[in-house]
Amino acid sequence: MLDKKIIMMLNEQINYEMYSAYIYHKMKLVYEDMGLRGYARWYDIQAKEEVEHAERLENFLTENGEKVSLKSIEEPMEIMDDVEKMLKLALKHEKSVTCKIHAIYKETMERKDIVSMEFLNWFISEQVEEEKNARDNIQLYHNYIGCGCGLMNADKKMSQREE
Ligand code: FEO
Repeated sequence: MLDKKIIMMLNEQINYEMYSAYIYHKMKLVYEDMGLRGYARWYDIQAKEEVEHAERLENFLTENGEKVSLKSIEEPMEIMDDVEKMLKLALKHEKSVTCKIHAIYKETMERKDIVSMEFLNWFISEQVEEEKNARDNIQLYHNYIGCGCGLMNADKKMSQREE
């Protein structure tokens, strides 16, 4: 049986992961609109990955005999049709996800909830990777943008993301 506060925080995190999926899905639509299919593909994969994160949390709750409570998902933040701004927004968002995961982890530490701590270790490592990916995408953009056909080449590179 899990602690009530941890259950509440994990349910909130499910909502935030779905919100993340919503943000990346919106980015996918914006990139499609801009004709950048590589970026659209990258963020489509990312949106699906965020739903998987939510499902991972859901499974943990149900495996521990707890209920999942699905709340309404906030409308995605206004996303401008500017590649660099969206890339930076993605990094900022991932940092906010990391903060939330760490906050849950700290609560599990205070409560000596070893089961939840062990479960959250995966998310802690995942967030290191998520932030790195977001930083890499900014770097890739800067590496290519100065050259002729830079954005098209960056888009090609983004399309190579594996599912
Ligand atoms: Fe599920 Fe991108 O954090």
